[in-house]
Amino acid sequence: MSLNKEYKEISDDILNNDNFSILKNDVHHGTNKYDHCKRVSYLSFLLTKLFKGNSESAARAGLLHDFFYGCRTEKEENDYLRHPKTSSNNAKKYFSISEKEAKIIESHMYHHALLKRLSPFMKEDDKKYFKENRPKDKESVIVCVSDLLVSLYEVCTFKIRYTTSLYLIFLINLIRY
Ligand SMILES: [Fe+2]
Ligand SMILES: [Fe+2]
Repeated sequence: MSLNKEYKEISDDILNNDNFSILKNDVHHGTNKYDHCKRVSYLSFLLTKLFKGNSESAARAGLLHDFFYGCRTEKEENDYLRHPKTSSNNAKKYFSISEKEAKIIESHMYHHALLKRLSPFMKEDDKKYFKENRPKDKESVIVCVSDLLVSLYEVCTFKIRYTTSLYLIFLINLIRY
């Protein structure tokens, strides 16, 4: 079976679900949360294939890792280190996911907590997240890394598109007057 076909079989029930499709309306890293989750999921799927991990769990947890509604500043449960638990609760509510997949979702912000640990500004909440959500398996590390790489890619391409548009508007105005 081709990789694309296998990925489709693993992910189709989530991608076509109405409760998940709402994420198309949420802006995230200059794109929408639905596309962001899909990118993280597909990269995690490919990396687990490469490193001989459980590609089904990585792909499904990757899709559901940011399954919360609204932006991070909108509600307390959506914030920086709380949204992994909110996403895992939503994933359990709407889909059938394993305990392993729930743990992957809950630990996906560990790289941020790790960075914060190096700074002197670590709050009690951060310490708690850091202690309780250490990635326990290969798939959790892969989803963490995929989220970081995809986020960097999305933010950079957004900034390039934004700057290019500004220059174009500036040039068009220059020609007009
Ligand atoms: Fe996240
Ligand atoms: Fe994410």
